[in-house]
Amino acid sequence: MFGSTTIGIDLGTANILVYSKSKGIILNEPSVVAMDAHTKDVLAIGTEAKNMIGKTPASIVAIRPMRDGVIADFDITSGLLREIMRRINASGGGFKKPKVVVCTPTGATSVERRAISDAVSSMGARSVVLIEEPVAAAIGAELPVDEPIANTIVDIGGGTTEIAIISYGGVVSSTSIRTGGDHIDEEIIAYIRKMYNVLIGESTAERIKMELGYAPIPHAEATMEIRGRDLLTGLPKVVTISSNEIQDAISELLNRVLEAIRLTLEKCPAELSGDIVDRGIILTGGGALIHGLQEWLTSQIDVPVHMAPNPMESVAIGTGKSLEYIEKLDKLSGK
Ligand SMILES: Nc1ncnc2c1ncn2[C@@H]1O[C@H](COP(=O)(O)OP(=O)(O)OP(=O)(O)O)[C@@H](O)[C@H]1O
Ligand SMILES: [Mg+2]
Repeated sequence: MFGSTTIGIDLGTANILVYSKSKGIILNEPSVVAMDAHTKDVLAIGTEAKNMIGKTPASIVAIRPMRDGVIADFDITSGLLREIMRRINASGGGFKKPKVVVCTPTGATSVERRAISDAVSSMGARSVVLIEEPVAAAIGAELPVDEPIANTIVDIGGGTTEIAIISYGGVVSSTSIRTGGDHIDEEIIAYIRKMYNVLIGESTAERIKMELGYAPIPHAEATMEIRGRDLLTGLPKVVTISSNEIQDAISELLNRVLEAIRLTLEKCPAELSGDIVDRGIILTGGGALIHGLQEWLTSQIDVPVHMAPNPMESVAIGTGKSLEYIEKLDKLSGK
């Protein structure tokens, strides 16, 4: 029927994106909710709420309801999804009761999948279909996932890193680790506290990562002035930090990602190994934007590593495009 709309949602730990086949990406906001601490009313979501993190009076809390790739607070996530639906409809989307496809991390438990599905239903979806995040990432990166060749995807998000080898429409080998960009931010906070006795907030840590975060490769050193609270005096303090220190601080986490990639490649059937050598690995997700990551991974695993065209949008685009397959399945099952 003409009016039956379908949308794809990348319900990410760090960012939520909504894709419609006809309009492309129609919403892209940080997964943050600001609410009244007492009444629990939602005051702001997305960028507006993210700008409040760590800066609100006690009566307002800015929360990220998803952590480590899964829903940590079900009610707040549902509130966030309802507000997103309201915005899409207010902007003329006309998506009353859409069919929704949403991605889940490969390592999500059945309870976690259920929570994602229930939260999406609560936003007013007519039906909810779940797809695994790396499959969505591969489709969004325009890999020929339905051909009998190895498509290798590494999606480094805020909460999880998903690695999968996909061939002939299915996942042949995969690994999901709860290590992503958020953990790198936490590592930076811990490092600055330990080295300088200065406490910084999450947003500052993220900025440091984006500016000074390098994979373990030689690079021209950069520095940055940062502001935090001196833990000894309790007063504000400015310190200058360098990219070399941050590089050291985050290298262990990046090595965890590397080990997970190695493990997945080792589990790959021998027949597909040749494809991986020829076609390489495709990187998606915001965490893949760490300076020098592509080059470093190439040097460590001796397989070409490429960046997807829109690494932060691949999952949302792929979730949306996967609808075509799913609609075909729906027709077959008579829905
Ligand atoms: N230029 C950049 N350099 C380094 N990291 C970046 C950059 N841009 C974004 N990031 C990081 O990417 C992460 C968000 O990526 P993405 O939107 O793919 O995650 P997500 O899909 O929300 O998370 P998940 O898939 O784990 O649920 C954040 O940790 C963010 O700090
Ligand atoms: Mg993601």
